[in-house]
Amino acid sequence: MLLKLVLLICISLSFVVQSKTVRETKHGPRPFPEGFLFGTSTASYQVEGGWNAEGKSENIWDYLTHNNPCIVRDCSNGDIANDSYNQYKRDVEMMRELGLDFYRFSLSWTRILPTSFPDKINEAGIQYYNNLIDEMLKYNIEPMVTLYHWDLPQKLQEMGGWTNPHVVDWFADYARIAFEHFGDRVKYWITMNEPREVCYQGYGAATMAPAISISGFAEYLCAKNLLVAHAKAYHIYDKEFRQKYGGVVGISISAGWIEPETEKDTQAAFESSQFEWGQYAHPIFSETGDFPPVMKERIAAKSAKQGFFRSRLPEFTPEEVELVRGSSDFFGLNHYSTNIVYRDETAEDYNAGPSYYDDIGTTGYQPEDWPTAASPWLKKVPWGFYKLLTAIRTQYNNPNVIITENGYSTSVGDGYEDNDRVEYYKDYLDAMLDAIDEGSNVTAYTAWSLMDNFEWMAGYTELFGLYEVDYNSPQRTRTPRKSAFVYKEIIRSRQLDYHYEPDTTVMTIDEGH
Ligand code: NOJ
Repeated sequence: MLLKLVLLICISLSFVVQSKTVRETKHGPRPFPEGFLFGTSTASYQVEGGWNAEGKSENIWDYLTHNNPCIVRDCSNGDIANDSYNQYKRDVEMMRELGLDFYRFSLSWTRILPTSFPDKINEAGIQYYNNLIDEMLKYNIEPMVTLYHWDLPQKLQEMGGWTNPHVVDWFADYARIAFEHFGDRVKYWITMNEPREVCYQGYGAATMAPAISISGFAEYLCAKNLLVAHAKAYHIYDKEFRQKYGGVVGISISAGWIEPETEKDTQAAFESSQFEWGQYAHPIFSETGDFPPVMKERIAAKSAKQGFFRSRLPEFTPEEVELVRGSSDFFGLNHYSTNIVYRDETAEDYNAGPSYYDDIGTTGYQPEDWPTAASPWLKKVPWGFYKLLTAIRTQYNNPNVIITENGYSTSVGDGYEDNDRVEYYKDYLDAMLDAIDEGSNVTAYTAWSLMDNFEWMAGYTELFGLYEVDYNSPQRTRTPRKSAFVYKEIIRSRQLDYHYEPDTTVMTIDEGH
């Protein structure tokens, strides 16, 4: 206990020292590299609403929230959400106010394919996305489209969802339909958003739809199938569409920085990172492909000890290793926060193996005194962002990184003066520029989120928007927070100025937008 306390104090002190160094280097305006792009992001289920509008069928979030309403903290759902299905012109107006280069949004699989399969294409769904894309292009805002941001057709879930290997073909068919209909105008594609959350939270921890908890098995089946499905979609684009349309296809991987508690935990922290995000990055971005060696070794050894006849981690065939390896034109990175990790020999007892965390054999935590957003897991640790970008550069031969998400949550009633969010953005952008200065090939940044939205199991209680959304108004009126004005100035000036103070009285659309 005492040892723990001393360690905590040491870590806090070193944090103070680190953040002080960061603060001291804060200077006047700091330019972004030539050609650097700025966007914001949302996702279909979190903003669209229109859950059964004009032919759309049920997905796993519709099903979960309708059948188990109070599984969500405020017993809410995405039935109406921000009503972007009807308010998309206002959404594009906000993009113009901010002066965005691009906007990242996702397609709803069941809005486009109500049977889940390509036998029936829902024209109203296609029309909705055409309207949105065309409205954006009118003002030179590039669409960046995510194919899968967590809203699997419920019918596919009833057949096992991501744990059924046939999902590879189901997803590939859906991807081809999307490329066919929107590929003439969409040049940036993301296959999957945050595989770790899809697999671990969806099938291991039951903290996301479909809320299944078969840890130590199901999340690994999901991981393998999801990676092969991603790769198949990538190769479909590569072979059938790239020449014609000239776009790029990538994947968005969620990765926090994992800091060792002490020097002797360096290997433990590395191993933890190999499970948490290397599980998805290594098969695609490493030279050898396949799951990270440490995952394969640990799960095989544990499985043998536990009496299984084979490893609980499924194997890729040699053909699948090759299919997945290199199947991304950029490393899409969703990053929010950092954890401290130490080797925990007792993990086995309290994680009651087999389980994912028992397989990892480490324990993680965040010191209480790290500044915390409305989301309890979201502590502001900009130096973690810098370290993560450095690790990606060195581990995967400096890939092109697009930050596809980064942002900060506030609570209901916190108002428009969101200084904590403003500071978070400035500090994280500053840390990103530090990594770029040292050679990291980061070419675009996406703020999460354009506006408040349905934050999954937290409902509408953790708000990430640059714009506030009034959920009591039928139009879901959107109003810019201070952070919207600050982000607008960053984009306009193409530089980060710590001293900039916006006039927040009136939001305008600048010439050329
Ligand atoms: C990750 C997810 O992609 C997004 O849907 C979510 O709202 C944000 N992070 C914030 O938690």
